[in-house]
Amino acid sequence: MEKIAKLIVDGTTYELPIVTGSEGEKAIDISSLREETGLITLDPGFANTGSCQSSITFMDGEKGILRYRGIPVEQLAEHSRFVETVYLLINGDLPTGEELDRFSALLNDHSLVHEDMRAFFENYPRGTHPMGILSSMVNALRAFYPEIPERTEEEEINKTVARLLSKVRTLAAMSYRISRGHKVVYPRHDLLYCANFLNMMFDSPVKPYVFDDDVVKALNVFWILHADHEQNSSTAAVRLVGSSRVNLYAAISAGIAALWGPLHGGANQAVVEMLQEIYNCGGDLSPFLTKAKDKNDPFRLMGFGHRVYKTYDPRARIMKRMCDKVLKKLKRKDPLLDIAKKLEEIALKDPYFIEHHLYPNVDFYSGIVLRSIGIPLNMFPVMFAIGRLPGWISQWKESHEDPNWKLHRPRQVYTGRKERDYVPIEKRG
Ligand code: CMC
Repeated sequence: MEKIAKLIVDGTTYELPIVTGSEGEKAIDISSLREETGLITLDPGFANTGSCQSSITFMDGEKGILRYRGIPVEQLAEHSRFVETVYLLINGDLPTGEELDRFSALLNDHSLVHEDMRAFFENYPRGTHPMGILSSMVNALRAFYPEIPERTEEEEINKTVARLLSKVRTLAAMSYRISRGHKVVYPRHDLLYCANFLNMMFDSPVKPYVFDDDVVKALNVFWILHADHEQNSSTAAVRLVGSSRVNLYAAISAGIAALWGPLHGGANQAVVEMLQEIYNCGGDLSPFLTKAKDKNDPFRLMGFGHRVYKTYDPRARIMKRMCDKVLKKLKRKDPLLDIAKKLEEIALKDPYFIEHHLYPNVDFYSGIVLRSIGIPLNMFPVMFAIGRLPGWISQWKESHEDPNWKLHRPRQVYTGRKERDYVPIEKRG
Protein backbone atom coordinates (compact mmCIF):
# COMPACT_ATOMS: atom_id res chain seq x y z
CA MET A 1 0.00 0.00 0.00
CA GLU A 2 1.23 3.49 -0.83
CA LYS A 3 2.39 5.29 2.30
CA ILE A 4 1.06 8.75 3.04
CA ALA A 5 2.06 11.75 5.14
CA LYS A 6 -0.59 13.83 6.88
CA LEU A 7 -0.44 17.58 7.01
CA ILE A 8 -2.81 19.56 9.22
CA VAL A 9 -3.45 23.16 8.18
CA ASP A 10 -5.98 25.23 10.12
CA GLY A 11 -7.57 22.06 11.44
CA THR A 12 -7.96 20.37 8.03
CA THR A 13 -5.94 17.20 7.38
CA TYR A 14 -4.40 16.68 3.94
CA GLU A 15 -2.86 13.44 2.77
CA LEU A 16 0.31 13.49 0.72
CA PRO A 17 1.88 10.43 -0.91
CA ILE A 18 5.31 9.26 0.21
CA VAL A 19 7.68 8.23 -2.58
CA THR A 20 10.29 5.58 -1.72
CA GLY A 21 13.56 5.28 -3.62
CA SER A 22 15.33 2.01 -4.42
CA GLU A 23 17.69 2.46 -1.45
CA GLY A 24 14.79 3.18 0.89
CA GLU A 25 15.02 7.00 0.99
CA LYS A 26 11.64 8.61 1.39
CA ALA A 27 10.20 11.86 0.09
CA ILE A 28 6.83 13.54 0.54
CA ASP A 29 5.34 14.29 -2.87
CA ILE A 30 4.04 17.84 -2.52
CA SER A 31 3.24 18.41 -6.20
CA SER A 32 -0.50 18.71 -5.45
CA LEU A 33 -0.02 20.71 -2.24
CA ARG A 34 -0.72 24.15 -3.65
CA GLU A 35 -3.73 23.02 -5.57
CA GLU A 36 -5.20 21.41 -2.48
CA THR A 37 -4.15 23.85 0.25
CA GLY A 38 -2.99 27.07 -1.44
CA LEU A 39 0.39 26.57 0.23
CA ILE A 40 3.85 26.20 -1.25
CA THR A 41 6.93 24.87 0.55
CA LEU A 42 9.86 27.13 1.37
CA ASP A 43 13.36 25.67 1.29
CA PRO A 44 16.13 28.21 0.71
CA GLY A 45 19.05 26.69 -1.18
CA PHE A 46 16.88 23.59 -1.90
CA ALA A 47 18.70 21.92 0.99
CA ASN A 48 15.79 19.57 1.61
CA THR A 49 14.09 19.48 -1.77
CA GLY A 50 14.16 16.59 -4.20
CA SER A 51 13.92 18.08 -7.67
CA CYS A 52 13.59 14.80 -9.55
CA GLN A 53 13.67 11.03 -9.35
CA SER A 54 16.89 9.73 -10.81
CA SER A 55 18.45 6.31 -11.39
CA ILE A 56 21.99 7.54 -12.09
CA THR A 57 23.87 8.19 -8.86
CA PHE A 58 23.25 7.19 -5.26
CA MET A 59 24.78 9.11 -2.36
CA ASP A 60 24.41 8.57 1.35
CA GLY A 61 25.91 11.60 3.03
CA GLU A 62 25.71 10.13 6.52
CA LYS A 63 27.47 6.88 5.61
CA GLY A 64 29.84 8.34 3.00
CA ILE A 65 28.54 6.24 0.10
CA LEU A 66 28.76 7.15 -3.58
CA ARG A 67 27.70 4.79 -6.38
CA TYR A 68 27.25 5.32 -10.10
CA ARG A 69 24.46 3.14 -11.51
CA GLY A 70 24.81 1.00 -8.37
CA ILE A 71 28.59 0.48 -8.58
CA PRO A 72 30.66 1.87 -5.68
CA VAL A 73 32.97 4.67 -6.78
CA GLU A 74 35.85 2.91 -4.99
CA GLN A 75 35.54 -0.06 -7.37
CA LEU A 76 35.35 2.17 -10.42
CA ALA A 77 38.42 4.15 -9.29
CA GLU A 78 40.32 0.93 -8.83
CA HIS A 79 39.31 -1.01 -11.94
CA SER A 80 37.68 1.25 -14.51
CA ARG A 81 38.88 3.78 -17.07
CA PHE A 82 37.23 7.19 -17.30
CA VAL A 83 35.69 6.47 -20.71
CA GLU A 84 34.19 3.22 -19.45
CA THR A 85 32.68 5.08 -16.47
CA VAL A 86 31.34 7.71 -18.88
CA TYR A 87 29.63 4.95 -20.84
CA LEU A 88 28.21 3.48 -17.63
CA LEU A 89 26.76 6.82 -16.53
CA ILE A 90 25.27 7.72 -19.87
CA ASN A 91 23.98 4.29 -20.91
CA GLY A 92 23.18 2.75 -17.52
CA ASP A 93 25.44 -0.32 -17.78
CA LEU A 94 29.09 -1.18 -18.18
CA PRO A 95 29.95 -1.68 -21.87
CA THR A 96 31.03 -4.95 -23.43
CA GLY A 97 34.50 -4.86 -25.00
CA GLU A 98 32.97 -4.21 -28.39
CA GLU A 99 30.71 -1.42 -27.11
CA LEU A 100 33.65 0.24 -25.40
CA ASP A 101 35.75 0.07 -28.58
CA ARG A 102 32.91 1.60 -30.58
CA PHE A 103 32.38 4.35 -28.03
CA SER A 104 36.12 5.14 -27.87
CA ALA A 105 36.23 5.27 -31.68
CA LEU A 106 33.26 7.66 -31.71
CA LEU A 107 35.06 9.94 -29.24
CA ASN A 108 38.16 9.86 -31.43
CA ASP A 109 36.12 10.69 -34.53
CA HIS A 110 34.76 13.83 -32.92
CA SER A 111 37.87 15.06 -31.17
CA LEU A 112 38.89 17.84 -33.56
CA VAL A 113 37.36 21.29 -33.26
CA HIS A 114 36.59 23.65 -36.10
CA GLU A 115 39.72 25.66 -36.96
CA ASP A 116 37.71 28.89 -36.87
CA MET A 117 37.25 28.43 -33.14
CA ARG A 118 40.92 29.23 -32.67
CA ALA A 119 40.19 32.84 -33.51
CA PHE A 120 37.95 33.05 -30.46
CA PHE A 121 40.76 31.90 -28.19
CA GLU A 122 43.21 34.29 -29.72
CA ASN A 123 40.95 37.26 -29.05
CA TYR A 124 40.27 36.71 -25.37
CA PRO A 125 42.19 39.18 -23.21
CA ARG A 126 45.28 37.68 -21.60
CA GLY A 127 44.50 36.46 -18.11
CA THR A 128 40.90 35.48 -18.86
CA HIS A 129 39.96 32.62 -16.57
CA PRO A 130 39.79 29.36 -18.59
CA MET A 131 36.41 28.48 -17.03
CA GLY A 132 34.87 31.59 -18.56
CA ILE A 133 36.44 30.68 -21.89
CA LEU A 134 35.26 27.07 -21.69
CA SER A 135 31.70 28.04 -20.83
CA SER A 136 31.42 30.39 -23.79
CA MET A 137 33.26 28.06 -26.18
CA VAL A 138 30.91 25.19 -25.37
CA ASN A 139 27.97 27.48 -26.06
CA ALA A 140 29.67 28.51 -29.30
CA LEU A 141 29.97 24.87 -30.39
CA ARG A 142 26.34 25.01 -31.46
CA ALA A 143 27.14 27.70 -34.00
CA PHE A 144 29.69 25.37 -35.59
CA TYR A 145 27.51 22.27 -35.48
CA PRO A 146 24.09 23.74 -36.25
CA GLU A 147 22.70 20.64 -37.89
CA ILE A 148 21.65 19.24 -34.53
CA PRO A 149 18.02 20.13 -33.86
CA GLU A 150 16.82 21.07 -30.37
CA ARG A 151 14.46 18.12 -30.06
CA THR A 152 16.66 15.37 -31.28
CA GLU A 153 16.43 11.77 -32.32
CA GLU A 154 18.46 9.18 -30.41
CA GLU A 155 21.26 9.00 -32.99
CA GLU A 156 21.63 12.76 -33.14
CA ILE A 157 21.74 12.94 -29.35
CA ASN A 158 24.52 10.34 -29.30
CA LYS A 159 26.47 12.35 -31.84
CA THR A 160 26.08 15.55 -29.85
CA VAL A 161 27.09 13.72 -26.68
CA ALA A 162 30.22 12.31 -28.35
CA ARG A 163 31.07 15.72 -29.74
CA LEU A 164 30.77 17.34 -26.37
CA LEU A 165 32.75 14.71 -24.49
CA SER A 166 35.52 14.77 -27.01
CA LYS A 167 35.67 18.42 -28.00
CA VAL A 168 35.50 19.83 -24.46
CA ARG A 169 38.75 18.02 -23.74
CA THR A 170 40.33 19.40 -26.92
CA LEU A 171 39.04 22.92 -26.19
CA ALA A 172 40.43 22.79 -22.66
CA ALA A 173 43.90 21.79 -23.86
CA MET A 174 43.77 24.37 -26.67
CA SER A 175 42.92 27.16 -24.24
CA TYR A 176 45.93 26.24 -22.14
CA ARG A 177 48.31 26.10 -25.11
CA ILE A 178 47.12 29.35 -26.60
CA SER A 179 47.19 31.14 -23.24
CA ARG A 180 50.88 30.18 -23.01
CA GLY A 181 51.58 31.29 -26.56
CA HIS A 182 52.30 27.69 -27.58
CA LYS A 183 51.32 25.86 -30.73
CA VAL A 184 48.11 23.85 -30.47
CA VAL A 185 48.65 20.07 -30.30
CA TYR A 186 45.96 18.09 -32.11
CA PRO A 187 44.33 14.96 -30.70
CA ARG A 188 45.87 11.66 -31.75
CA HIS A 189 43.91 8.62 -32.89
CA ASP A 190 46.33 6.15 -31.33
CA LEU A 191 45.93 7.52 -27.80
CA LEU A 192 43.21 6.80 -25.26
CA TYR A 193 41.13 9.63 -23.81
CA CYS A 194 43.26 10.62 -20.79
CA ALA A 195 46.64 10.08 -22.43
CA ASN A 196 45.40 12.07 -25.42
CA PHE A 197 44.52 15.00 -23.17
CA LEU A 198 47.91 14.94 -21.43
CA ASN A 199 49.62 14.87 -24.82
CA MET A 200 47.58 17.82 -26.08
CA MET A 201 48.51 19.75 -22.95
CA PHE A 202 52.19 19.00 -22.67
CA ASP A 203 53.71 17.67 -25.88
CA SER A 204 56.28 19.95 -27.42
CA PRO A 205 58.39 19.81 -30.62
CA VAL A 206 61.52 20.19 -28.49
CA LYS A 207 60.46 17.89 -25.69
CA PRO A 208 58.00 15.14 -26.61
CA TYR A 209 55.62 14.26 -23.79
CA VAL A 210 56.67 11.08 -22.04
CA PHE A 211 53.76 9.04 -20.73
CA ASP A 212 53.84 7.59 -17.26
CA ASP A 213 51.22 4.90 -16.58
CA ASP A 214 50.71 6.10 -13.02
CA VAL A 215 50.11 9.68 -14.17
CA VAL A 216 47.59 8.49 -16.76
CA LYS A 217 45.93 6.32 -14.09
CA ALA A 218 45.81 9.31 -11.70
CA LEU A 219 44.00 11.38 -14.32
CA ASN A 220 41.56 8.54 -14.99
CA VAL A 221 40.84 8.31 -11.26
CA PHE A 222 40.53 12.09 -10.90
CA TRP A 223 37.93 12.23 -13.66
CA ILE A 224 36.08 9.11 -12.47
CA LEU A 225 35.73 10.64 -9.00
CA HIS A 226 34.25 13.82 -10.48
CA ALA A 227 32.03 12.12 -13.04
CA ASP A 228 28.69 12.62 -11.27
CA HIS A 229 27.35 13.70 -7.91
CA GLU A 230 23.58 13.63 -8.27
CA GLN A 231 21.81 17.00 -7.88
CA ASN A 232 24.76 19.26 -7.09
CA SER A 233 24.62 22.94 -7.99
CA SER A 234 26.00 22.69 -11.55
CA THR A 235 23.95 19.58 -12.38
CA ALA A 236 20.85 21.31 -11.04
CA ALA A 237 21.78 24.24 -13.32
CA VAL A 238 22.06 21.91 -16.34
CA ARG A 239 18.69 20.36 -15.56
CA LEU A 240 17.06 23.72 -14.94
CA VAL A 241 18.42 25.40 -18.04
CA GLY A 242 17.80 22.24 -20.08
CA SER A 243 14.20 22.11 -18.85
CA SER A 244 13.38 25.04 -21.12
CA ARG A 245 14.31 22.65 -23.98
CA VAL A 246 17.31 24.72 -24.96
CA ASN A 247 20.03 22.80 -26.86
CA LEU A 248 22.43 20.60 -24.90
CA TYR A 249 25.44 22.85 -25.54
CA ALA A 250 23.71 25.81 -23.87
CA ALA A 251 22.64 23.71 -20.89
CA ILE A 252 26.20 22.40 -20.39
CA SER A 253 27.59 25.90 -20.76
CA ALA A 254 25.34 26.94 -17.84
CA GLY A 255 26.64 23.99 -15.83
CA ILE A 256 30.23 25.09 -16.40
CA ALA A 257 29.35 28.61 -15.22
CA ALA A 258 27.74 27.23 -12.04
CA LEU A 259 30.72 24.98 -11.41
CA TRP A 260 33.16 27.88 -11.59
CA GLY A 261 32.29 29.27 -8.14
CA PRO A 262 34.70 28.69 -5.22
CA LEU A 263 32.01 26.94 -3.18
CA HIS A 264 31.67 24.34 -5.93
CA GLY A 265 34.17 23.36 -8.64
CA GLY A 266 36.38 26.39 -8.06
CA ALA A 267 37.20 24.98 -4.62
CA ASN A 268 40.10 22.84 -5.90
CA GLN A 269 41.90 25.99 -7.02
CA ALA A 270 40.94 27.81 -3.81
CA VAL A 271 42.32 24.96 -1.66
CA VAL A 272 45.76 25.10 -3.26
CA GLU A 273 45.77 28.91 -3.00
CA MET A 274 44.94 28.57 0.71
CA LEU A 275 47.61 25.92 1.31
CA GLN A 276 50.13 28.07 -0.56
CA GLU A 277 49.23 31.06 1.61
CA ILE A 278 49.71 28.95 4.74
CA TYR A 279 53.07 27.83 3.39
CA ASN A 280 54.09 31.40 2.53
CA CYS A 281 53.14 32.47 6.06
CA GLY A 282 55.57 29.94 7.52
CA GLY A 283 53.18 26.98 7.87
CA ASP A 284 51.42 28.13 11.05
CA LEU A 285 47.89 26.70 10.83
CA SER A 286 46.31 28.27 13.88
CA PRO A 287 45.44 31.72 12.39
CA PHE A 288 43.66 29.99 9.50
CA LEU A 289 41.71 27.68 11.79
CA THR A 290 40.77 30.62 14.03
CA LYS A 291 39.53 32.59 11.04
CA ALA A 292 37.55 29.60 9.73
CA LYS A 293 35.79 29.26 13.08
CA ASP A 294 35.05 32.97 13.47
CA LYS A 295 31.40 33.66 12.62
CA ASN A 296 32.24 37.28 11.75
CA ASP A 297 34.93 36.29 9.27
CA PRO A 298 33.79 35.11 5.81
CA PHE A 299 36.89 32.89 5.48
CA ARG A 300 36.18 29.18 5.28
CA LEU A 301 38.53 26.26 5.31
CA MET A 302 38.44 25.43 1.62
CA GLY A 303 38.07 21.76 0.79
CA PHE A 304 36.14 21.16 4.00
CA GLY A 305 32.42 20.63 4.44
CA HIS A 306 29.73 19.46 2.10
CA ARG A 307 26.00 19.97 1.72
CA VAL A 308 25.33 16.23 1.65
CA TYR A 309 28.33 14.46 3.22
CA LYS A 310 28.28 14.75 6.98
CA THR A 311 31.18 12.34 7.18
CA TYR A 312 34.41 11.82 5.22
CA ASP A 313 33.82 12.27 1.49
CA PRO A 314 34.66 8.85 -0.05
CA ARG A 315 36.27 10.65 -3.00
CA ALA A 316 38.64 12.55 -0.68
CA ARG A 317 39.91 9.29 0.81
CA ILE A 318 40.84 7.96 -2.65
CA MET A 319 42.31 11.30 -3.69
CA LYS A 320 44.51 11.43 -0.58
CA ARG A 321 45.94 8.00 -1.38
CA MET A 322 46.44 9.12 -4.97
CA CYS A 323 48.55 12.12 -3.82
CA ASP A 324 50.95 9.82 -2.01
CA LYS A 325 51.09 7.36 -4.89
CA VAL A 326 51.75 9.87 -7.65
CA LEU A 327 54.28 11.90 -5.70
CA LYS A 328 56.15 8.71 -4.74
CA LYS A 329 56.15 7.54 -8.35
CA LEU A 330 57.41 10.89 -9.60
CA LYS A 331 59.96 10.92 -6.76
CA ARG A 332 58.73 14.34 -5.68
CA LYS A 333 57.73 15.98 -2.44
CA ASP A 334 55.06 18.61 -2.16
CA PRO A 335 55.15 20.71 1.01
CA LEU A 336 51.48 21.58 0.44
CA LEU A 337 50.57 17.90 0.95
CA ASP A 338 52.26 17.92 4.36
CA ILE A 339 50.32 21.08 5.27
CA ALA A 340 47.05 19.57 4.05
CA LYS A 341 47.55 16.39 6.09
CA LYS A 342 48.41 18.39 9.21
CA LEU A 343 45.42 20.66 8.68
CA GLU A 344 43.13 17.65 8.32
CA GLU A 345 44.54 16.03 11.44
CA ILE A 346 44.01 19.14 13.58
CA ALA A 347 40.59 20.02 12.13
CA LEU A 348 39.20 16.53 12.65
CA LYS A 349 40.01 16.81 16.38
CA ASP A 350 38.68 20.35 16.73
CA PRO A 351 35.23 20.64 18.42
CA TYR A 352 34.06 23.25 15.84
CA PHE A 353 34.67 20.91 12.90
CA ILE A 354 33.31 17.90 14.81
CA GLU A 355 30.10 19.70 15.82
CA HIS A 356 29.58 21.09 12.32
CA HIS A 357 30.32 17.69 10.71
CA LEU A 358 33.05 19.21 8.55
CA TYR A 359 35.34 16.71 6.85
CA PRO A 360 37.65 16.95 3.83
CA ASN A 361 35.75 16.91 0.56
CA VAL A 362 36.96 15.85 -2.90
CA ASP A 363 38.67 19.19 -3.49
CA PHE A 364 40.90 19.04 -0.43
CA TYR A 365 43.46 16.71 -2.00
CA SER A 366 42.58 16.84 -5.69
CA GLY A 367 44.59 20.00 -6.41
CA ILE A 368 47.74 18.32 -5.13
CA VAL A 369 47.21 15.45 -7.57
CA LEU A 370 46.68 17.94 -10.41
CA ARG A 371 49.76 19.96 -9.46
CA SER A 372 51.87 16.83 -9.39
CA ILE A 373 50.92 15.94 -12.96
CA GLY A 374 51.69 19.45 -14.19
CA ILE A 375 48.21 21.01 -14.48
CA PRO A 376 48.40 24.77 -13.87
CA LEU A 377 46.33 26.23 -11.03
CA ASN A 378 43.78 28.15 -13.09
CA MET A 379 42.98 24.99 -15.08
CA PHE A 380 41.87 23.08 -11.96
CA PRO A 381 38.16 23.97 -12.26
CA VAL A 382 38.34 23.12 -15.98
CA MET A 383 39.62 19.68 -15.02
CA PHE A 384 36.63 19.32 -12.72
CA ALA A 385 34.34 20.38 -15.59
CA ILE A 386 35.74 17.77 -18.00
CA GLY A 387 35.20 15.15 -15.31
CA ARG A 388 31.64 16.27 -14.50
CA LEU A 389 30.59 16.39 -18.14
CA PRO A 390 29.29 12.79 -18.33
CA GLY A 391 27.24 13.43 -15.20
CA TRP A 392 25.69 16.57 -16.67
CA ILE A 393 24.97 14.76 -19.93
CA SER A 394 23.38 11.73 -18.29
CA GLN A 395 21.26 13.90 -16.00
CA TRP A 396 20.19 16.06 -18.96
CA LYS A 397 19.35 12.93 -20.96
CA GLU A 398 17.37 11.44 -18.09
CA SER A 399 15.40 14.64 -17.66
CA HIS A 400 14.83 14.82 -21.43
CA GLU A 401 13.49 11.29 -21.53
CA ASP A 402 11.34 11.65 -18.40
CA PRO A 403 7.65 11.21 -19.30
CA ASN A 404 6.82 13.48 -16.35
CA TRP A 405 9.20 16.19 -17.59
CA LYS A 406 8.29 19.71 -16.52
CA LEU A 407 9.77 23.14 -17.05
CA HIS A 408 11.74 23.96 -13.86
CA ARG A 409 10.13 26.96 -12.32
CA PRO A 410 10.35 27.38 -8.54
CA ARG A 411 7.98 29.64 -6.65
CA GLN A 412 8.71 32.21 -3.96
CA VAL A 413 7.26 33.91 -0.93
CA TYR A 414 7.03 37.58 -1.88
CA THR A 415 8.22 39.94 0.87
CA GLY A 416 8.23 43.27 -1.03
CA ARG A 417 5.93 46.30 -0.98
CA LYS A 418 2.17 45.95 -1.26
CA GLU A 419 0.47 47.46 -4.32
CA ARG A 420 1.02 51.22 -4.65
CA ASP A 421 0.59 53.86 -7.35
CA TYR A 422 3.18 55.10 -9.80
CA VAL A 423 4.38 58.60 -8.81
CA PRO A 424 5.39 61.00 -11.62
CA ILE A 425 9.04 62.08 -11.35
CA GLU A 426 8.26 65.72 -10.51
CA LYS A 427 6.19 64.62 -7.52
CA ARG A 428 8.86 62.38 -5.97
CA GLY A 429 10.56 63.89 -2.97
N1 CMC B 1 34.95 26.16 7.07
C1 CMC B 1 34.39 26.68 8.19
N2 CMC B 1 33.08 26.61 8.51
C2 CMC B 1 32.29 25.97 7.63
C3 CMC B 1 32.78 25.40 6.43
C4 CMC B 1 34.17 25.51 6.18
N3 CMC B 1 34.69 25.00 5.07
N4 CMC B 1 31.75 24.84 5.75
C5 CMC B 1 30.65 25.05 6.47
N5 CMC B 1 30.98 25.73 7.62
C6 CMC B 1 30.05 26.11 8.70
C7 CMC B 1 29.27 27.35 8.34
O1 CMC B 1 29.95 28.53 8.72
C8 CMC B 1 27.99 27.12 9.10
O2 CMC B 1 28.26 27.42 10.45
P1 CMC B 1 27.09 27.96 11.46
O3 CMC B 1 25.98 26.95 11.37
O4 CMC B 1 27.75 28.00 12.79
O5 CMC B 1 26.67 29.29 10.92
C9 CMC B 1 27.78 25.61 9.01
O6 CMC B 1 29.10 25.06 8.82
C10 CMC B 1 26.91 25.19 7.85
O7 CMC B 1 27.40 25.82 6.67
P2 CMC B 1 26.52 26.06 5.37
O8 CMC B 1 27.26 26.97 4.48
O9 CMC B 1 25.13 26.44 5.78
O10 CMC B 1 26.41 24.59 4.82
P3 CMC B 1 26.27 24.18 3.34
O11 CMC B 1 25.72 22.82 3.33
O12 CMC B 1 25.54 25.21 2.56
O13 CMC B 1 27.81 24.23 2.90
C11 CMC B 1 29.64 24.16 1.46
C12 CMC B 1 28.41 23.42 1.99
C13 CMC B 1 30.43 23.18 0.60
C14 CMC B 1 29.21 25.35 0.66
C15 CMC B 1 30.53 24.60 2.66
O14 CMC B 1 30.87 23.53 3.47
C16 CMC B 1 31.76 25.37 2.19
O15 CMC B 1 31.68 26.57 1.95
N6 CMC B 1 32.95 24.67 2.08
C17 CMC B 1 34.14 25.29 1.56
C18 CMC B 1 34.11 25.30 0.03
C19 CMC B 1 34.35 23.92 -0.55
O16 CMC B 1 35.22 23.20 -0.14
N7 CMC B 1 33.53 23.57 -1.55
C20 CMC B 1 33.63 22.30 -2.26
C21 CMC B 1 32.46 21.42 -2.03
S1 CMC B 1 32.76 19.73 -2.55
C22 CMC B 1 32.91 19.79 -4.27
C23 CMC B 1 31.63 20.00 -4.96
O17 CMC B 1 30.84 19.05 -5.02
O18 CMC B 1 31.40 21.12 -5.46
